[in-house]
Amino acid sequence: MNLEKERLPKHLAIIMDGNGRWAKQQGKPRVFGHEKGAKTAREVIQRVAELGIPYLTLYTFSTENWNRPKLEIEALMRLLSGYLKKEVAVMQANNIRLNTLGDISQFPKSLQKELQKAKEQTQNNTGTVVSLALGYGSQQEILQMTQQLAQKVKEGTLSPEQITYTTIEQHLYTQAIPPVDLLVRTSGEYRISNFLLWQIAYAELYFTDAFWPDFTTEELHKALLNYQQRERRFGKTSEQLT
Ligand code: IPE
Ligand code: IPE
Ligand code: MG
Repeated sequence: MNLEKERLPKHLAIIMDGNGRWAKQQGKPRVFGHEKGAKTAREVIQRVAELGIPYLTLYTFSTENWNRPKLEIEALMRLLSGYLKKEVAVMQANNIRLNTLGDISQFPKSLQKELQKAKEQTQNNTGTVVSLALGYGSQQEILQMTQQLAQKVKEGTLSPEQITYTTIEQHLYTQAIPPVDLLVRTSGEYRISNFLLWQIAYAELYFTDAFWPDFTTEELHKALLNYQQRERRFGKTSEQLT
């Protein structure tokens, strides 16, 4: 079956999970899985851009991932830095704009600068917006939004009645990014792990047993085809949709 170009999700979000188990399966250290996972991310980003999907969000490092062993965190940071060095040129060639979601203030200063630079270099690109969720936690995002709104109410620049869905969205990291249409999680885990809780309110969910390093472009197509077979009713009856 072929993909229908006009029925692709506008916003695809992916929980890239299973790097560690993939490596273990091969008798290799976890970092080996992260390296292969970065290659998968590169291929998926490129394919998503080719397909013309406007927004892709990748869960790359969560607030909870700070609880991992220090050595693994350091390896992930190094990997991300190396990835950025190579990938900006590819992003330019594919008209991709890089964005980040989350709190990166605890990331190494040099990496923060590299991220900033990569975002600036790609800011005029008009194709797919690739958002890397880094130091991201949805509850932390919602907490921060609540504190910001409470502060504005206290200062008298916002009244409680003026708070709308749009106000809330403007204070989330995702701001102008539309809600998630399709959320994919790899590695056979059936949970959200604190990812985009507000933004997935009406997303279609797709779970696959494939570990992230094995999530090929064929796997991506399978997920998209599956999405195209769903009927998104948004509370209506099936008859109302035709
Ligand atoms: C996903 O793979 C990558 C990150 C969370 C950074 P994992 O590292 O979680 O791999 P598993 O789940 O332990 O197999
Ligand atoms: C979710 O994967 C976070 C990322 C993919 C970056 P985890 O492996 O950290 O999630 P849990 O611990 O299985 O919920
Ligand atoms: Mg995991």
